[in-house]
Amino acid sequence: MKIAFFNTKSYDRDYFENFSENSEIELTFFDGTLNCETTELTKGFDGVCVFVNDQLHADVIEKLAEHNNKIIALRCAGFNNVDLEAAEKHNIKVVRVPAYSPSAVAEHALALTLTLNRKTHKAYNRVRESNFSLERLTGFNLNGKTVGVIGTGKIGVEFAKIMQGLGCKVVAQDPYPNQELIDKGIEYINTEELLSKSDIISLHCPLTPESKHLINKETIKQMKRGAMLINTSRGALINTKDAIKGLKKGRIGYLGIDVYEQEEDLFFKDLSENIIQDEDIMRLMSFPNVLITSHQAFFTREALEQIATTTIQNILDFKQGKELKNQVSPQH
Ligand code: NAI
Repeated sequence: MKIAFFNTKSYDRDYFENFSENSEIELTFFDGTLNCETTELTKGFDGVCVFVNDQLHADVIEKLAEHNNKIIALRCAGFNNVDLEAAEKHNIKVVRVPAYSPSAVAEHALALTLTLNRKTHKAYNRVRESNFSLERLTGFNLNGKTVGVIGTGKIGVEFAKIMQGLGCKVVAQDPYPNQELIDKGIEYINTEELLSKSDIISLHCPLTPESKHLINKETIKQMKRGAMLINTSRGALINTKDAIKGLKKGRIGYLGIDVYEQEEDLFFKDLSENIIQDEDIMRLMSFPNVLITSHQAFFTREALEQIATTTIQNILDFKQGKELKNQVSPQH
């Protein structure tokens, strides 16, 4: 079975090549993104393996069907970039890696929180230049602060437990409350109350039509003035332009993002010699209280290994006609 891997980097190849002895699946790696301009590359393959920023809109899926591709294997958990109805219509199966390391993402959300708060990134640069001053490095104790977790699935649960362990009061919002968190004394409250009470808000819900721009000019007004907002989930949960206004007015005190609304053209690429055309990211980068990482929350050895293992298993299950336990369908 021949699978075309899109958007691959050296680290993907390192982990997937461990499976190259598996003669049942032939892997071909492409650097570029799968989108309407690159669909011709899928000719002669039985399926594709894609990542978060490949764009599997209806027109791309139609081309995949024309080229007899039968499976879309996502190397990630989120599937907001795939038109599931179109895939179902063309009888193309979509599989994903539902959980590769919830701890990896939760721990990165903590890293963003601590770095923004204690300004270790600035201290590191200062000390390298023999500047040992503490001016403007003041942080705050996390102990005793209120943390609002929006979305308490696999990642949100881990993040809530970490923050509770640091002595924070954790409140949460999710249409399906988690009993383990309730047993730990974590209270589920509505979004408005969560926004108004929290010193730190962390987003861990998926991007859906309902959650798109969950953080917008109205909800920013409901936030505690100067609160910290962390997003390791999907960029479009935040209306970027509204967040910029919120930062300018001081309503958002700190912003830590691992995902960005228009990340497709930027993230995972070395653009250090390019002129960046995206005005919003340039504005965000100019704030002293904004920290951006380029979708690296998942990026641990354990997660990469899990992604490769589950992806190959998903493809093998499809090839062998077994039940696809990691299939996603429009009913999701
Ligand atoms: P999950 O499916 O286990 O949990 C998501 C939770 O969000 C569920 O409990 C669901 O009921 C809840 N939810 C859905 N809509 C909501 C809403 N409007 N408001 C509040 N809660 C809502 O997903 P998991 O594994 O915890 O991942 C969460 C998200 O993290 C993924 O959808 C993905 O977008 C993102 N992610 C980011 C990574 C990164 O490297 N930055 C890596 C992996 C996932």
